[in-house]
Amino acid sequence: MKFTIAVLPGDGVGPEIVAEGVKVLRAVGKKSGHEFNLKYGLIGGTAIDKESTALSPETLKMCKATDAVLHGAVGGPKWDDPQAKVRPEEGLLAIRKGLGLFANLRPVKMFPELVDATNLKPDVVRGVDMVFVRELTGGLYFGRPKRQYVTSRGRRAVDTMAYSEQEIERIVRVGFELARTRGKKLVSVDKANVLESSRLWRQVAMEVHQHYPDVTLEHMLVDSCSMRLIQNPRYLDVIVTENTFGDILTDEASMLAGSMGMLPSASLAGVPRAGEHIFGLFEPIHGSAPAHTGKNDINPIATILSVAMMLRYSLGLPKEAQSVESAVESVLRAGYRTYDIMSEGKAKVGTREMGDLIAGKVGG
Ligand code: IPM
Ligand code: MG
Repeated sequence: MKFTIAVLPGDGVGPEIVAEGVKVLRAVGKKSGHEFNLKYGLIGGTAIDKESTALSPETLKMCKATDAVLHGAVGGPKWDDPQAKVRPEEGLLAIRKGLGLFANLRPVKMFPELVDATNLKPDVVRGVDMVFVRELTGGLYFGRPKRQYVTSRGRRAVDTMAYSEQEIERIVRVGFELARTRGKKLVSVDKANVLESSRLWRQVAMEVHQHYPDVTLEHMLVDSCSMRLIQNPRYLDVIVTENTFGDILTDEASMLAGSMGMLPSASLAGVPRAGEHIFGLFEPIHGSAPAHTGKNDINPIATILSVAMMLRYSLGLPKEAQSVESAVESVLRAGYRTYDIMSEGKAKVGTREMGDLIAGKVGG
């Protein structure tokens, strides 16, 4: 089969990690005979510098005409002035909104080989395997009003956390569908003891639950969830939550997998059901890591595992996805590590070397 993939490397380490993702995709193409036609575009600070906007309408249009998008990272000190007219992150938010990518899947899995690489107790993190379903196009990130203004008593700023029942329903459905394919247990995270938007969230979650009697639903407050994540992470399987809570909880949860450098993500434009593929954007959950830029030391595994998610969710190639995941596991088993997951007695390698090793194992 032939596929067209939009590739948006972005800023900082973005181009370095995306190059390794592409390397692995090429290896998949060679082994499987599928053709991947890549179309490159600009996003973030790099787009601000060259096109005066964090995401041009042309780039968005180009992405719409593809089967999936591979994204690196955006942002960096060069564009960090709080008074700047446009920020790199706006490019990422615009593409999420513009492509209707409301469902962000973030799997958190502790590879047995990395149990020693975490600074948490091995007994706590061993066997951790959960998936966050983060709502991605609503809540505080997009709610209006959103602005700073001057009053007679000084400056004020407002952000708005707003959700419609339709927005809640479709994301909760993604949670239930995913729970059905896993442990049949869904935890819905909210702050219903304080927030109106959370009370609606909880109500809608209970209504959608009627359609999924085979899955158990538990509500958990976000503060309590952040504690449970560290106290007993194996308790959690599929977690569905709104945009900001999901952003914060997944950075916290990444430590359960040893490093942010291990966590991939899929942002989908629909509810994934068995046998269907859905347009999506695939990216590591980590940022542009300016301090690591150009050093060939950043961990490319989060991006490579994002390529696996792309093969599975958007291209309908589960066998190929599995072969990328197995390649990652076998390279870890062989003892190769980037700096962030390094432990005693292992072989330290750079970004490109890690990509070469994994690409070499694909389908083999
Ligand atoms: C993420 C990032 C983004 C977010 C930033 C870069 C806008 O932190 O994907 O988790 O907050 O969603
Ligand atoms: Mg984040």
